[in-house]
Amino acid sequence: MHFPTVFAAAAAVATAQAELIGFNYGSTFTDGSAKAQSDFEAEFERAQALPGTDGEFTSARLYTMIQGGTTDTPISAIPAAIDTQTSLLLGLWASAGQADFTNEITALTSAITQYGSDFTSLIVGISVGSEDLYRNSPTGIAADSGAGADPATLVDYINQVRSAISGTSASSSSIGHVDTWTAWVNGTNDAVIEAVDWLGMDAYPYFQNTISNGISVANATFFEAYDNTVGVASGKDVWVTETGWPVSGPQENDATASVANAETYWQQTGCSLFGKINTFWYILEDALPTTPSPSFGIIGSDLSSAPLYNLTCSNAALGSTASSSASSSKTSSAISTASSATKPASASGTNTESLSAAAPGPETSPVSASISQTTAASVASRVASSAASQGSSGVASQSGSPSASTMTSAAVTSSVVVAGGYTSTTYQTTLITITSCSAGCTSSETSVAGASENATSAVAPTSTASPSSASVGTAAPSPATSSATTAAAASSSASVTFCDANLNGEYQYPHLIVPVNSAEPDTAYGTQYNGTITPTTSTIFNFDLPSSYAGKTCSLVFLFPEQAALETSAFTFNGQGGISVNELSSPATQETTYDSVPSVAVSAIGTLASVSPGNSYVVASHECNAGATQAFEFVSTGGLSLEYFEDWNPSPIGAFITVC
Ligand SMILES: *[C@@H]1O[C@H](CO)[C@@H](O)[C@H](O)[C@H]1NC(C)=O
Ligand SMILES: *[C@@H]1O[C@H](CO)[C@@H](O)[C@H](O)[C@H]1NC(C)=O
Ligand SMILES: *[C@@H]1O[C@H](CO)[C@@H](O)[C@H](O)[C@H]1NC(C)=O
Ligand SMILES: *[C@@H]1O[C@H](CO)[C@@H](O)[C@H](O)[C@H]1NC(C)=O
Ligand SMILES: *[C@@H]1O[C@H](CO)[C@@H](O)[C@H](O)[C@H]1NC(C)=O
Repeated sequence: MHFPTVFAAAAAVATAQAELIGFNYGSTFTDGSAKAQSDFEAEFERAQALPGTDGEFTSARLYTMIQGGTTDTPISAIPAAIDTQTSLLLGLWASAGQADFTNEITALTSAITQYGSDFTSLIVGISVGSEDLYRNSPTGIAADSGAGADPATLVDYINQVRSAISGTSASSSSIGHVDTWTAWVNGTNDAVIEAVDWLGMDAYPYFQNTISNGISVANATFFEAYDNTVGVASGKDVWVTETGWPVSGPQENDATASVANAETYWQQTGCSLFGKINTFWYILEDALPTTPSPSFGIIGSDLSSAPLYNLTCSNAALGSTASSSASSSKTSSAISTASSATKPASASGTNTESLSAAAPGPETSPVSASISQTTAASVASRVASSAASQGSSGVASQSGSPSASTMTSAAVTSSVVVAGGYTSTTYQTTLITITSCSAGCTSSETSVAGASENATSAVAPTSTASPSSASVGTAAPSPATSSATTAAAASSSASVTFCDANLNGEYQYPHLIVPVNSAEPDTAYGTQYNGTITPTTSTIFNFDLPSSYAGKTCSLVFLFPEQAALETSAFTFNGQGGISVNELSSPATQETTYDSVPSVAVSAIGTLASVSPGNSYVVASHECNAGATQAFEFVSTGGLSLEYFEDWNPSPIGAFITVC
């Protein structure tokens, strides 16, 4: 599967016409007690009265049609929405089996009968399910996220809802499904894409803890996920049904939960979405009565208190200017008019009252119990939801890897690059270049105190793929710290530029990491976090190279720090052998097996005769194949057996492409 790069996202953003702006609303509080109509009303009124938002949070996404504590009574968010003129993205819980799904449909049709067009005129969409496919995926299962549903079941349920609403005043409602972006890009789920009118995408860069996921790259990471989803959506609308950044909670790789970062994410990502793409933020309030960890609420536990951070968009995305685009929206303009009429009545007093009135007994049905659990746990489930596929993912199971406290020795590693067998660059740490030897370092130059072993990599000088010296020389000036230009290779008169074997400059991480196993030639393992290179298992890495790399040099590098330099990653290595790397003619997919590996385009484009921890290697280097997806297969030689968790922080480990 090809994953378009983030660079296509801007276009997708620019062309989108939709503009629902709202929050997600669970059916229960954090103690599992059901929200009453007055609770929903208080929340909807507060959303419309948030300072800095110009009253534009007029839409609510629900997870279930069923009122907490009942079997199939319509959720009281419906009359609350009617009273506050809040538009509704309805949700039917789809992971509890047919009997419970039938109750969801009963609640939907009962509500249509009971409230009529007052209700149906507010419906902006109906989601059949929420993250059901994710919960059924390996990462969802590993994260203990609860029961899911398979694609065929969801398609069946979608058809059931279509027939349930036909002939009613809700018959024109568009039907979608909400899932993590990783579930959408999984081709096995394509039948769901075919069955829906629109795709609801949940994405949380905070949880993508196997890649660089600090707040500084969060916006780009989010839009990459969005763009990946748009890329598989068959032209259907992609709605952002959940995203947000926690105000408190645990560190996830380099993502810090904080009010300041939540504000930055709102400002960068939220304000890029609001008014352009249907967006349901996670979340208005999630801390009543107890604060979950992480907590995403933009308001603390007191609904009437001020937001925790400044919600005003500096790009004026929320405001009269931006909302003039409302005319193109499928949301009825009557709703926005009505809601702006209710907006000034901000509800400090009433909110307090209604909240204190909300102390329902714990009389929850099994269904509502499972929903409340999911709603509360849905955030936790995202630990793996974000990015499992494409190697860019957050994975819960990894958080228990080597303990950070025992592995915080900084700057211990030395790295030696011997590129092309002719040029060496020495690094004192994996991140700082201290030596550059343009004509080939002597062994004493390549040896650095602290290095456990010397690296000797015999790298094929990228024979066929190497650009002419002229094109390299002009197009790719080496940065001062770079390993510089090699001397002419014996087999080629071309001079080849190598980019740094570190991630200080521009780089790409693999978007798909797919092992293939000669002992299980029919097995498709799908994308993984680990690179596995053993005598029977090779790993294919797909890289998506943006078209903006045209004319630049790309170096495939293999970074192998010492264990002591790793905090969130680990490797197991038998200390013998090397790695041979083939460039493949086409990318791997989630379905690639040993028997279906794409043909080899360049055999042994790079060969590392031996590898050892504490070293970084340039495997191959040539002019960037800009705009292409390139796949490289790492094959064990000489009995090498290496498994590692591809990671970025604090010391990168694994296959990357550096750009210069
Ligand atoms: C892809 O989707 C199918 C069907 O939902 C699921 O069984 C499978 O585990 C998913 N694969 C991955 C890698 O998520
Ligand atoms: C966030 O990314 C989108 C898509 O690339 C872009 O349009 C927007 O300007 C970015 N926002 C900020 C604040 O960088
Ligand atoms: C909130 O942010 C907006 C836009 O950046 C700014 O104009 C305004 O002064 C800020 N308000 C406060 C109270 O900081
Ligand atoms: C590493 O280089 C040093 C200095 O040249 C040399 O003495 C040593 O034997 C080398 N070690 C290995 C494992 O090759
Ligand atoms: C990934 O590799 C590391 C290091 O060998 C290992 O500890 C971890 O269990 C592996 N993870 C998986 C999911 O196989």
